[in-house]
Amino acid sequence: MPRCTVVRRVHFNAAHRLHNPAYSDEWNRTTFGPCNNPNYHGHNYELEIVVEGPIDDATGYVVDVGLLKQIFSEILHPVLDHKNLNLDVPWFRDRMPSVENIAVYCWEVLAPRIPAGRLTRIRLWETPRNYVDYEGA
Ligand code: NI
Repeated sequence: MPRCTVVRRVHFNAAHRLHNPAYSDEWNRTTFGPCNNPNYHGHNYELEIVVEGPIDDATGYVVDVGLLKQIFSEILHPVLDHKNLNLDVPWFRDRMPSVENIAVYCWEVLAPRIPAGRLTRIRLWETPRNYVDYEGA
């Protein structure tokens, strides 16, 4: 049976601050630069949900991208969009809200909920020039 990779791109805005209180202010400023701004700052995140699997005979789909959009809209978007990741999202209470860790969080929420095929990658763009890929542990 032929297999294919399907990608759904979705979007959210969020604020964060990269600051590790175990280290000095100077270390934090040097390490994180503008992302250490004490009053937080925002990013326009672009999230690519990548699902691989066999093409279903009846639908011609690997997975219905409308369902991927719906799962994102109902489960992840309300938690992340227009939120302060440091203050509003408990998962980041003891983790740095870096783009790497946000990608891991998105994976953990989405992977068990993919209705067909399997999640093979989360690609998360923090700026038009920076992205990370996470493919599971
Ligand atoms: Ni930042």
